[in-house]
Amino acid sequence: MTKLHAAITGVHGYVPDYILTNAELEKMVDTTDEWITSRTGIKERHILKTPGWATSDMAVEAVKGLLAKTDTKPEEVELLICATVTPDMHFPDTANTICDKVGIKGAWAYDINAACSGFLYALMTGAKFIEAGMHKKVIVVGADKMSSIIDYTDRTTCIIFGDGAGAVMLEPTKDGVGVIDGVLRGDGSGRVHLHMKAGGSSLPASHETVEKRQHYAYQEGQPVFKAAVKGMTGTIAEVLKRNNMTVDDIDWLVPHQANKRIIQSVGDMAGVPTEKVMVNIHRYGNTTAGTLPLCLWDYESQLKRGDHLVLTAFGGGFTWGSILIKWAYDGLEFGV
Ligand code: UT7
Repeated sequence: MTKLHAAITGVHGYVPDYILTNAELEKMVDTTDEWITSRTGIKERHILKTPGWATSDMAVEAVKGLLAKTDTKPEEVELLICATVTPDMHFPDTANTICDKVGIKGAWAYDINAACSGFLYALMTGAKFIEAGMHKKVIVVGADKMSSIIDYTDRTTCIIFGDGAGAVMLEPTKDGVGVIDGVLRGDGSGRVHLHMKAGGSSLPASHETVEKRQHYAYQEGQPVFKAAVKGMTGTIAEVLKRNNMTVDDIDWLVPHQANKRIIQSVGDMAGVPTEKVMVNIHRYGNTTAGTLPLCLWDYESQLKRGDHLVLTAFGGGFTWGSILIKWAYDGLEFGV
């Protein structure tokens, strides 16, 4: 093998301590544990309550853990990419804030905004810098403090989202493992179904936008649901076909955690057995850019070198896609 690939050589995550249960939500809005569980599969989500903490602070915890377990010094990191829709501020980017708080000096860093597909987009981007031979250590973060843009009087969204962050280390290898291929897509016409109305340049913040509660995530669930199933299923098939593989070659499907019914539909339509589909939505809800690295973190001890993983996601934009990875290490190496 001579081709350079970007191997994931470690993963770490962070979720805040506070757990918002369905029982607590029942007291906040007109909903029930039965409705939330049967329609979404979510039982609880973690919410960031630490005063003064933002998205970057959750990411910092994930990145510090990642540096420790991969035995990497902060100054060795050359590039950090952060996928998020809840940056600490409009500008500067959250990625540079993470670097500063962790002590990563001299690296360049930037954010990617692709909503729930953010981690996929960032992972593909980071992998290309490795494949091009430009960098040897790249960190890709997916982090969102969704509670900062959720209206806790809106039962259609507040039951879904949670806060969390995950990070992976990318390093070059010629062993045939790593990020093998990806199919990434976008369709801007989907923006009408999933967006935040105010706070950007099209509708800057004003008393009126605050009064109209326009600084929160807005979602039309059903069209997003349908497009998500179609988009993820289609790109899984495409990436497998392009690499002369079938669904039987997949050891793990790693789907975005937006809705248990979406995960099941995608798994069924793609033909992946349930026991090969990573699921942790019942514990974290939808953490947007955080879901995929948090899945890898939770399942890390079960992963083996040579396993084929397909990561797939769908989100606001619309954005979606699937990435094929050949896993680079035995998860138990970290003694998790
Ligand atoms: O991560 C980014 C991408 N996002 C997604 O992939 C999310 C895709 N969409 C979904 O996951 C689902 O559409 C939702 C979970 C958002 C909603 O589930 P649904 O089965 O599509 O419900 P619905 O929107 O069709 O609403 C059914 C009913 C409505 O009442 P009526 O009009 O039938 O009387 C809603 O008002 O359920 C009602 N409803 C609720 N009832 C109790 C909506 N939210 C709630 C709630 N508790 N929390």
